[in-house]
Amino acid sequence: MLGRKSAGAAQVQPTAPVPAQSFRFATPVVQTPGVFILAGWMWRLVRFLLVLPFRFPVAVGTVAVSVALWYFTGWLGLAVAWSIADAVLLVWWRRWPRSFRDRVALRVLAGWRWAWIYQRHWQPVLVVAGLAESYLERQYLPRIRGVTCSAWADRVRVRIVAGTSPADFQKRVTELAHGFGAPSCRVEVRGPRDVVLEFPRYDTLADPIDALPIPEEPDLAALPVGVCEDGEVWTLRLHGTHVLTVGVTGAGKGSVLWSAIRAMSSAITAGIAEVWAIDPKRMELSYGRALFARYADDGESAVALLEAAVAAMQERAERYAGRQRIHTPTTRDPFTVIVLDEVAFLTAYHPDRDIRRRAENAIATLTSQGRSVGFCVLAALQDPRKEVLNLRNLFPDKIALRLDEASQVDMVLGEGARDRGANAHLIDPELPGVGFVKLEGSPVPVRVRAAFVSDADIDHTTATAAGTGE
Ligand SMILES: Nc1ncnc2c1ncn2[C@@H]1O[C@H](COP(=O)(O)OP(=O)(O)OP(=O)(O)O)[C@@H](O)[C@H]1O
Ligand SMILES: [Mg+2]
Repeated sequence: MLGRKSAGAAQVQPTAPVPAQSFRFATPVVQTPGVFILAGWMWRLVRFLLVLPFRFPVAVGTVAVSVALWYFTGWLGLAVAWSIADAVLLVWWRRWPRSFRDRVALRVLAGWRWAWIYQRHWQPVLVVAGLAESYLERQYLPRIRGVTCSAWADRVRVRIVAGTSPADFQKRVTELAHGFGAPSCRVEVRGPRDVVLEFPRYDTLADPIDALPIPEEPDLAALPVGVCEDGEVWTLRLHGTHVLTVGVTGAGKGSVLWSAIRAMSSAITAGIAEVWAIDPKRMELSYGRALFARYADDGESAVALLEAAVAAMQERAERYAGRQRIHTPTTRDPFTVIVLDEVAFLTAYHPDRDIRRRAENAIATLTSQGRSVGFCVLAALQDPRKEVLNLRNLFPDKIALRLDEASQVDMVLGEGARDRGANAHLIDPELPGVGFVKLEGSPVPVRVRAAFVSDADIDHTTATAAGTGE
């Protein structure tokens, strides 16, 4: 009997629930007395009122003076003072519009946008975008430290939550732009916990840009080729570097090539610069053949041109060896730009394997050795994938026009470019010539638009270079 019982118990025991512990401890919940909550609210109100005059001195000052005037002089005094102030502002606006814009209009706008757009929508947008953090049931939000306005964009200075990183913002630029109703958003990292969010108020590059005036004495290290989003001229360095322009068909690569050629045309006339052009499609550069020292279109002649460039470069390097380390453009040793439209035609698509190999060798030699002896390769490419152009990394400067896929952005502009707001894959197809570049001295990509060089502009450039233009 006993034996049967113990056998039954032995069968039941393994499945029976065993409590993890006999006693459970929990932190007791203590109700916060109402007086503490009230005191907390009062403290926040007092702190807000104390900080207000320092954050908005002009607005608080204006209200304070108005109240004081009303108190001491009544409505009439207040009306007279406001009329005088309005008249002063009117004269200021008419007489010195720029200073009025910077000191009054943009500051008022910044205050308005701080309150109406950013402060009002901050919490919902950041929570939905996943940028608010929670710890012990409390929510921690990044803090707005200030809003400033430029003529075209709002800049919101933000102190991020400790324990998060600026990269969290960089990954959510699309959500932030949508959340605050801006066409785009760019994140600038100012410190370990400080970032600036830049929200354009409208697209400054929406309208095509006419061909820029031809500089009389062009700086080959800063050729004007278009406009940056902030309205500044976009200058392109050719001397001392190589430039690769990447974009899908119709992205406007031609306008970048032509803007650069046009900008240096006075140097071509003076004989201190030369353009050697290769146009496999015969649709882009063939129109301005008269400007080029050498020109090729089919595979065989293009490779011959590239190899001639390599030979000229090596001859120059031979002469410079041990004597000169920097190239200065002269009529004897002109700065030579090899402009290559659709470089993949030679390096990947040409049916002749030998042509592909020779072209690739020549381009690799020119890009790796030409910089300091005054040879530059300015190339255009539709597809940036590695298998199409192995030489991508030999071009120090790259321009990303409209691209097919998000992953191509970092291929062109370098790792992290897309996180910093270079959304080249989102560029509107209606905006040819718009792209992203990294300007010297800054890792933040800048949105730019190349000037559109029409056939008439090319004719004018050719005539000017030949000395028959006006
Ligand atoms: N900077 C620009 N501003 C305004 N319109 C432009 C600009 N660049 C190009 N376009 C327009 O877009 C069209 C296509 O441009 P473009 O031929 O330069 O493209 P692409 O990138 O060279 O294309 P593909 O790879 O097919 O040669 C042009 O015919 C022109 O009408
Ligand atoms: Mg083209």
